[in-house]
Amino acid sequence: MKTVLVIGSTGSMGKAALSGLSHHKIITANRSGNGADHTVDITSEASLRKLFDTIGNIDAVVNTVGYCEYATFLEMTDQQWRTTIDSKLIGQMNIVRIGSDYVTEGGSFTLISGILSVKPIPFAIADATTSGAIETFAKCVAFEMPRGLRVNVINPTVLEESWDVYGEMMPGFQPVPATLVGKAFQRSVDGFISGQVLTVDA
Ligand SMILES: NC(=O)c1ccc[n+]([C@@H]2O[C@H](COP(=O)([O-])OP(=O)(O)OC[C@H]3O[C@@H](n4cnc5c(N)ncnc54)[C@H](OP(=O)(O)O)[C@@H]3O)[C@@H](O)[C@H]2O)c1
Repeated sequence: MKTVLVIGSTGSMGKAALSGLSHHKIITANRSGNGADHTVDITSEASLRKLFDTIGNIDAVVNTVGYCEYATFLEMTDQQWRTTIDSKLIGQMNIVRIGSDYVTEGGSFTLISGILSVKPIPFAIADATTSGAIETFAKCVAFEMPRGLRVNVINPTVLEESWDVYGEMMPGFQPVPATLVGKAFQRSVDGFISGQVLTVDA
């Protein structure tokens, strides 16, 4: 059994991750603190440091937070880009940079991207771009990690549980159950792979 920190545990993707990690000791965190053990804002370096200082050493970190703004490219403002980049790209990179002092040898970071990085749809340019960037980050940073620490990204298609929210903007996509995506999180946490993008598509 490992001790696993799951950030964004109360969201749809967080619940998918939890479904594959039930055999581990889980510590949860989100920004509001509602339904989670700890509060953290992944867009704040100070907040991330406080979280890791509070919980101490762990075996794995799973992040499912990545806030995205949706608009056409020509309508997307500079502020909307920065909000998305601060969360889905820099927030996730900071989890790895700050958290690496606290994850035990051979432990892992599992981050989130999304299928829109390879299957573009209208209005999702910021989600797609930051998803692609975090995948490149994981592939490259894996070579720099100390003490055998591993970094992977889960790239799921839309969840069945989220179809009500995203289905209308994703015609022709086939949703997958959260439990299937949970298996990919398990493969990242319990396996030995690093620098990988684990795609879960139908
Ligand atoms: N849902 C899908 O079908 C799907 C498919 C592929 C990829 N994705 C990707 O997965 C990611 C999460 O999506 P989701 O559907 O799970 O979203 P969601 O249901 O809205 O959940 C977001 C979670 O993150 C927490 N959170 C929000 N901002 C935070 C912050 N700054 N710091 C810490 N915690 C924060 C929320 O908790 P509080 O608000 O209570 O703090 C909640 O637990 C997104 O990047 C999305 O693109 C989703």
